[in-house]
Amino acid sequence: MNETPALPLFTADPAARTNAYRELDAALAALLAGEHDPIANLANTAALIFQALPQLNWAGFYLWHADAREGQGELVLGPFQGKPACVRIAPGRGVCGTAVAQRATILVPDVHDFPGHIACDSASNSEIVVPLIRGDRQRGRLLGVLDLDSPIKNRFDEIDREGLERLVTTLLRSIR
Ligand code: SME
Repeated sequence: MNETPALPLFTADPAARTNAYRELDAALAALLAGEHDPIANLANTAALIFQALPQLNWAGFYLWHADAREGQGELVLGPFQGKPACVRIAPGRGVCGTAVAQRATILVPDVHDFPGHIACDSASNSEIVVPLIRGDRQRGRLLGVLDLDSPIKNRFDEIDREGLERLVTTLLRSIR
């Protein structure tokens, strides 16, 4: 079994945070090395992120089930850390469904200002959702989303977007 890698130190300094994301990406690659099972690697990725990043109350995945809802597709809860969450999200609904519809990372500084936000945990105040897309962003295969929630408003910024998108790339490579 893989050892849990040493976790990087996240501080307020932007350059240090960028570097901490690089270290976290290396830690994730080491954790997933040699394993290709999707559930195992999604579960370990959620656990590593939840342990490493400060000020999170939820970190996990919703997986795209293309055949659900008579072929219209929907997101279904996957491996995560945090409180039990809502199970099914239709495309276009909530932050997760919006990330799917737009095939883009969505940053929400204050979830109370996001129309249609789905409140799974009343502690959540900000959120970032990164789509899992294999290959080209517009035409590639959608696998699901990575969703992080924070009790702090304005918790996520461009450094988080870039760092988390890199982690998602590493994860997708491991479950090719
Ligand atoms: N807030 C999300 C729903 C999932 S939970 O945060 C875990 C949304 O609006 O899509």
